Amino acid sequence: MAGNAWRSTICKLLERYGAWISGQRKPKEVSRIMGAVKSQTQPRTFSRGMQTVTIIPGDGIGPEISTSVIKIFEAAKVPIQWEERNVTAIKGPGGKWMIPPEAKESMDKSKIGLKGPLKTPIAAGHPSMNLLLRKTFDLYANVRPCVSIEGYKTPYTDVDLVTIRENTEGEYSGIEHVIVDGVVQSIKLITEEASRRIAEYAFEYARNNQRNSVTAVHKANIMRMSDGLFLRKCREVAENFKDVKFTEMYLDTVCLNMVQDPTQFDVLVMPNLYGDILSDLCAGLIGGLGVTPSGNIGANGVAIFESVHGTAPDIAGMDLANPTALLLSAVMMLRHMGLHGHAKKIETACFDTIRDKKVLTKDLGGNSKCSEFTAEICRRVQDLD
Ligand code: NAI
Repeated sequence: MAGNAWRSTICKLLERYGAWISGQRKPKEVSRIMGAVKSQTQPRTFSRGMQTVTIIPGDGIGPEISTSVIKIFEAAKVPIQWEERNVTAIKGPGGKWMIPPEAKESMDKSKIGLKGPLKTPIAAGHPSMNLLLRKTFDLYANVRPCVSIEGYKTPYTDVDLVTIRENTEGEYSGIEHVIVDGVVQSIKLITEEASRRIAEYAFEYARNNQRNSVTAVHKANIMRMSDGLFLRKCREVAENFKDVKFTEMYLDTVCLNMVQDPTQFDVLVMPNLYGDILSDLCAGLIGGLGVTPSGNIGANGVAIFESVHGTAPDIAGMDLANPTALLLSAVMMLRHMGLHGHAKKIETACFDTIRDKKVLTKDLGGNSKCSEFTAEICRRVQDLD
């Protein structure tokens, strides 16, 4: 195909799939998000009134772990009110998959969401609802702090790092097509704009959370143009953050070094696919997805915090689920909202419960039910009052 024909095909594909990728991002909006992330230095206080938070319980164990979080928030007297919404795939005009309008309206209003896991059919049916949520609210930054939990034995005891993953493009742009029978092409899309804003987010995050360094993770030696562009933007942004050390490292080198000594890493920023894989690897270092919180920050002031494990269909409805990942995501959410006192109290009660080892769910090495683990955290929260 000649150059112009290629360009025209890609433009059509982008139009079809990619308005959300290429479109309308105002630098001003980025700094508003930075303001929210700046919460440690410039707390946004909602505690005077009741702030509404949209809660999406999700599928499988989602309702059980969401109930657990709601109970613990009640015990801690967190000044928020929940607006519960289901997120199931529905077909809108023209057969396009979308999230239910009630869920979108609630998120548009509240701007803050807490989400349990959502099931995804494999290779057919509706697309991933997680992907649809990211697209709907342009949730461009996935943030996962991975910090060792005292008393929960893993091969590493002092992990303290944060992965920041570009969440909207790269290999997950959703641009795939059959060229001829038996040949499928999937486009990795990297844009200057998305690379710059994720780099800016990572440096702002490092600065505002008293972290020392940002490492850009890439494969620009192989994908010279796409990862090359991503890396160039990271380098340019680094120039404006002289107080934060900047390093760049190949993805394979990061993986090797990470399993040898994770303490050498601080904040890591990377394109979508690398972030998807590396963030799970890092979660493994601290005990797995059952204890790892996550937040997705959007361009229009929206943020959705979520547990990153799946729906655990094998234990759904059996009161065996571990709510820690969703609870710690909710703690991240409270910090994002400037409710630092409530966040600290809940986090302390959760970590104390785990350190004490008396009331633990099965995946944490104990024999307790989800409801018993929840009750123990509630008791400790009340004791901290
Ligand atoms: P999974 O994470 O649901 O389960 C893997 C294993 O971990 C199971 O043995 C499960 O019992 C256990 N597990 C997971 N979370 C747990 C918790 N909180 N407490 C105790 N044990 C827990 O992964 P799987 O089986 O691959 O996926 C099941 C469904 O979840 C699929 O439909 C998948 O698409 C969806 N999924 C959704 C995600 C999300 O919404 N963020 C992420 C990953 C998967």
